[in-house]
Amino acid sequence: MKQQIQMFVTKRLSLLFLALAVSIVTTGAFNNQNNSDSDSLDPGVRGGTPAAGGPRANLSSNYQQMFTASQLRFQEVDSVSGTLPNEAGSGLGPGFNANSCAACHAQPAVGGSSPAVNPQFSLANLDGATNQLPEFILSNGPVREVRFISNPDGTPDGGVHDIFTIAGRTDAPGCVDPQPDFATALAQGNAIFRIPTPVFGAGLVEDISDTAILANAAANANVKAQYGITGVPNHSGNDGSITRFGWKAQNKSMLIFAGEAYNVEQGVTNEVFPNERDKTPSCQFNGIAEDDTNMATNDSAFAPSAYSSDVVNFAMFARLSAPPTPAPQTAQTQAGAQVFSNIGCALCHTPTINTGATSFVTKEVNVPVNAFSDFLVHNMGSGLADHVAQGNAAGNEFRTAPLWGVGQRIFFLHDGRTSNLVEAIKAHKSHGSEANAVINNFENLSHTQKQNLMLFLRSL
Ligand code: HEC
Ligand code: HEC
Repeated sequence: MKQQIQMFVTKRLSLLFLALAVSIVTTGAFNNQNNSDSDSLDPGVRGGTPAAGGPRANLSSNYQQMFTASQLRFQEVDSVSGTLPNEAGSGLGPGFNANSCAACHAQPAVGGSSPAVNPQFSLANLDGATNQLPEFILSNGPVREVRFISNPDGTPDGGVHDIFTIAGRTDAPGCVDPQPDFATALAQGNAIFRIPTPVFGAGLVEDISDTAILANAAANANVKAQYGITGVPNHSGNDGSITRFGWKAQNKSMLIFAGEAYNVEQGVTNEVFPNERDKTPSCQFNGIAEDDTNMATNDSAFAPSAYSSDVVNFAMFARLSAPPTPAPQTAQTQAGAQVFSNIGCALCHTPTINTGATSFVTKEVNVPVNAFSDFLVHNMGSGLADHVAQGNAAGNEFRTAPLWGVGQRIFFLHDGRTSNLVEAIKAHKSHGSEANAVINNFENLSHTQKQNLMLFLRSL
C-alpha cells in the first residue's frame, strides 16, 4: 500500500516536472518573452463570460430554433462509421485534422478560434489510432492545419495535408495509411501553418455587398497612397464576385466553407465536396456522400435542422451567430480607439462597413458590420509571407484580419505564431509590407498611447 502511494507521488512529481518543462519550452516558442518591455503591455485574454457564441439579434423563432439545433450539430463528434460511444457522427477520415468543428473552433465559445488546450494532442491516438504527433502540435500551442508550399517536383502545391489518419482505429480495421512526412517538409521549409478563424458574425460578412467593399476600398485614397496601402479584393473563380472568408479571403460563402472544412478537416464527404481526398483503398468504409440531406418520410424528421445535411446546419450556425460584443468602453479604450485611427491601423482594419444590402436571413437593410476589416488582401511582407497563393491572393498577401473578438482570442496571425498583441503588430513590418509606414507610427507612440491601444484591442 505504502509502496503504491510512494510510486503515485513520484509519478505525480515527474509529471509535474514534465509539465513545467513543456510549459517553459512552449511559452518561449509562442510568446517570445525575451523581447522589449512593450510586449508586456498586452493585458492578455479579457476575462469574464464569453462575449460571443450566441445567436444574432432579430431572428424569427424559426431561425432561433435553427440556431440552437445547428449549434449542437457543429459540436457533433465523428467516428469512422458512427458506431462508437460519444462519437455518433460518421465519415471521419481517411485523413483528418480533428473530429468535430467545435474541437478547433472553441475559444471563447463554440464557433471561435483555437482553445488553450490543443485537442489535436489527444486525437492522435484516440480509439487505437497509431498517429505520431508532429513536433509543431503542442498541447498548449494553437490548433494547426498544415499546407505544403511545393510538390516534390517543385510545382506549387498549396493544399492542406491532413495531420492524422484513421489507421489503427478500432473502427477502421485493416486500414493502412501512413501520415504525410512532416519531418522532411519541415526540414525543407516546405510546411506552413494556419490556425482557425472564428465564425462569429459570418452571416453579416456574407451580407456585405461587393459594391460596399469596393466603395470602402476607394475611400481615403490619398492617405492610403501616402502610406503605400493598396489592398485588392480576392475573387471567386466560379462567379467572379468578391470572396471574404479565410486568411486569404479565398472562400466565398459559409456553405462552401462548411463543405470544404467537413471534407478537408474531418474527411467527411458531403453535398458540396462529395469525393474522398485520401483514396487509400483499405481505408474507405462508407459510400459517398457521408453527409447528405435526410430524405426520411417521417414528418417529425422534417424540422429544418433535422432534414438538412450537416453542412447546411454548420453554415446556418455560422450565418446566424452574433458578432462578438465589445466590453463597455472606458476613457483609456476610447483613447486607444483614437490612436488606432490616428496612426493608420483603420486604413486596413476599417472599423465599420455597412452591408449596403438586405440581410440574407433577417431582411434588415444596410446593417453596420463592426468587423475592423476592409476584406481586402494586402502584401504583408516577407516576414508573414507563407508562399501559398489562393485565388488572386499571392504568397505574401493576407486578408485584413477582422479584429472583432480579438479581446478574448489566445493565438494571433495566420499561423498562430504569437499570443501577444504587441508581437502581432510588430510582425506587420517586414520587407515589402504595405503596413510598414503604419507600424513605424506605432513604434513612435508613447508608452501610454501603446497601453491605451492594447486596452482598446482587448475590449473588442
Ligand atoms: C483542425 C481544425 C479545424 C476543424 C476541425 C474545423 N476548422 Fe474551420 N477553420 C480552421 C482553420 C485553420 C481555418 C482557416 C483556414 C484558412 O483560411 O486557411 C478555418 C476557417 C473556417 C471558416 C472561415 C471563417 C472566416 O470568417 O474566415 C469557417 C466558416 C469554418 N472554418 C467552418 C468550419 C466548419 C463548419 C467545421 C466543421 C465541419 C470546421 N470549420 C472544422 C480549422 C478547423
Ligand atoms: C496594410 C494593412 C494593415 C495595416 C495598416 C494594419 N494591419 Fe493588422 N493585419 C493586417 C493583415 C493582413 C493581418 C493578417 C496577417 C497575417 O495573419 O499574416 C493583420 C492582423 C492583425 C492582428 C492579428 C489578428 C488575428 O486575427 O490574428 C492584429 C491584432 C492587428 N492586425 C492589429 C493591427 C493594428 C493595431 C494596426 C495598427 C498599428 C494594424 N493592425 C495595421 C493588415 C493590416
